[in-house]
Amino acid sequence: MLAQKQTTHSHDLDNKHKEYAIIGTDLAAAAHCLRQGQCIGFPTETVYGLAANALDANAVVRIFETKKRPAFDPLIVHLPDLDAVGRYAATFPAPLRALAEQYWPGPLTLLLPKQPIIPDLVTSGLPRVALRVPAHPLARTLLQMLEFPLAAPSANPFGYISPTTAQHVADQLGDQIPYILDGGPCQVGVESTIVGWEDGKVTVYRLGGMSVEEIEAVSGPVVIALNQSSNPAAPGMLKSHYAPRKPLLLDRVGAHLEAHQDKKIGVIAFEKAYEHPAIVHQIILAQDGQTGTAAQHLFAALRTMDQSDVDLILAETLPDVGLGRAINDRLRRAAATEV
Ligand code: TXA
Ligand code: MG
Repeated sequence: MLAQKQTTHSHDLDNKHKEYAIIGTDLAAAAHCLRQGQCIGFPTETVYGLAANALDANAVVRIFETKKRPAFDPLIVHLPDLDAVGRYAATFPAPLRALAEQYWPGPLTLLLPKQPIIPDLVTSGLPRVALRVPAHPLARTLLQMLEFPLAAPSANPFGYISPTTAQHVADQLGDQIPYILDGGPCQVGVESTIVGWEDGKVTVYRLGGMSVEEIEAVSGPVVIALNQSSNPAAPGMLKSHYAPRKPLLLDRVGAHLEAHQDKKIGVIAFEKAYEHPAIVHQIILAQDGQTGTAAQHLFAALRTMDQSDVDLILAETLPDVGLGRAINDRLRRAAATEV
């Protein structure tokens, strides 16, 4: 998407957060806010981020406050290109460099030993920093304009579903930030895959928009070390996350429909619709049967169901291959909340 020519007065932006975020495609306005140490909504190909200057600890504090995110959960730092890695990472193990060369820009985050220039707040005091070069054209142009990289977690209140449109960001954080850069609906739809180098092995810490198969095509067999814990010492990968406020049950959709027919039920189906009198709302994720299409629509579907009048959400998991693994991971964490 190309930036449109627009005029947004900086005076308006400075005061705007007291009212409501402006949504637009004005890169200069976005850069202005960031240079002032503010947070903005930022499009990437995976999900929207809540971005701020990664080198300014005061700006980074605002990210944690705006999201109500606990300080133990570290942030991903977004870079304009692979060449920038050397400024922020102390070393770049060859197997991870090979992945970056193949897949950046793209939905892949690498954990690398950090340079002191990255504030400890960004990494929650951990020795590694998470780095990624996003593929979204507006994100890339913005990163190239700026003198600093952008720390950006997903732009949702902590624990809730990640946003995949500018409007999703506005709905939840619009009264706290001055600007949301609108890059349209996210093309990938689930967060980046997080990969590191541990004990001499390429290790996947979070399943995401880059499939394990794609990583293994470059790295050979990898270790998958997903943290299922609800222990706050385990950064980010909390058992309950990406969660709607309504109860969500996975699989055995037919049996759940029978057991809960007194309720108003919302169904999130993969390819084929279910028929049952208790269904008041149904969303098909991928009429084309492609897991990539399902990933694109997953979070918006969960949000829509959460905001509808259904009492209970039912959803199908997918075969555990390709992006199906990331989709299933998000669904299981979304279903893990006790309601
Ligand atoms: O696709 C994405 O990755 C999106 C877009 C905006 O880039 N960002 C995103 O950020 O999903 P967030 O904050 O919602 O999730 C990042 C996760 C953290 O929860 C944490 O588990 C892991 O990345 N992480 C970040 N820095 C880390 C570090 N230094 N060591 C270990 N894990 C880290
Ligand atoms: Mg997140």
